[in-house]
Amino acid sequence: MLSWGAVVTLGIETSCDETACGLVDDGMRVLANQVYSQVPLHSDYGGVVPEIAARAHLEKIDPIVRAALDEAGIGFDGIDQIAFTRGPGLLGPLLVGASFARALGRSLGIPVTGVNHLEGHLASAFLQEPSLKPPFLCPVVSGGHTEFVRVDAGLEYTLIGKTRDDAAGEAFDKCGKILGLGYPAGPLVARTAVGGRRDFVVWPRALEQRDNFEFSFSGLKSAVLRYAESQDAETIRNQLPHICASLESAIVEVLVKKSMLALISAELDTLTVVGGVSANIHLRERMTVEAGKRGFRAIFPSAAFCGDNGAMIAALAQWRANEGISGMETAVSPSLRWS
Ligand code: KG4
Ligand code: ZN
Repeated sequence: MLSWGAVVTLGIETSCDETACGLVDDGMRVLANQVYSQVPLHSDYGGVVPEIAARAHLEKIDPIVRAALDEAGIGFDGIDQIAFTRGPGLLGPLLVGASFARALGRSLGIPVTGVNHLEGHLASAFLQEPSLKPPFLCPVVSGGHTEFVRVDAGLEYTLIGKTRDDAAGEAFDKCGKILGLGYPAGPLVARTAVGGRRDFVVWPRALEQRDNFEFSFSGLKSAVLRYAESQDAETIRNQLPHICASLESAIVEVLVKKSMLALISAELDTLTVVGGVSANIHLRERMTVEAGKRGFRAIFPSAAFCGDNGAMIAALAQWRANEGISGMETAVSPSLRWS
């Protein structure tokens, strides 16, 4: 139920392979969250095909927006502003979302703003905890990014470290592919790992001992490839839960260790872990335990808001508006960085 006078933001997300739309009010309440996943369209190719993605966004954006309005029980006249992802992401898919948002905004006579996808993931923490106040540390762990960001009042971001090569989600996906799991492999590795031995293979944990916030996950896929080539297929199949459990631990432990180090060195006591990989249950458990031991607080978006979604895009626009920060940039930017 909408409260009287609430500002409603429509968020549109089309940067990669999810056509997503969310409706969020100025109290960070999610009125609707509709996601059309294109995963089945891309799974035969083992990754996202940009041209297929753009065409699917074009077909689905209108029905997804209408489904979100139905879910919220409002019409087009109930929307006060529109936010869409303007980057980073794939050019064709971004253009579909941007064109739709601009056209809808013009026809309704309401403001339209393009926002940063990574900042959107960051804002997903506010959906979990609307009273969250900076400063805090935000590890963004997704399929395309592994970045540690310090967030200060006034939406000031400081990038304090990132991966030198593959992102954490990419490591899950590439290693899972080598092991014969489907795409995207992150959730499948996690599912297969249940009950497996975490110390089964000692996988490389590059840069783990370094006193910095940089990551390198590319060595992991080479190690998994070498391991897979050294065993016959049946042995790999039988060992799969153990291989996945030890693989999951190798990725998770580096993220946990560096998060604790970053909190201590930046003198922060709160971290919000966001992005697709933040859905990983082992990561959530390990991060919560290690943070708790040190008196820190670990916050995660609920599972529906970890992967790409429109609600986080709307939440970001609301958060910016609540902070008195305006932005009317509507040009798409596939390689957009932290501003
Ligand atoms: O944030 P996201 O939906 O898209 C990007 O912006 O990249 O993240 C997708 C990534 C994929 O690499 C996927 O394998 C990974 O998140 N992922 C997971 C899990 N769920 C999604 N990785 C590990 N465990 C999971 N449960
Ligand atoms: Zn994302």
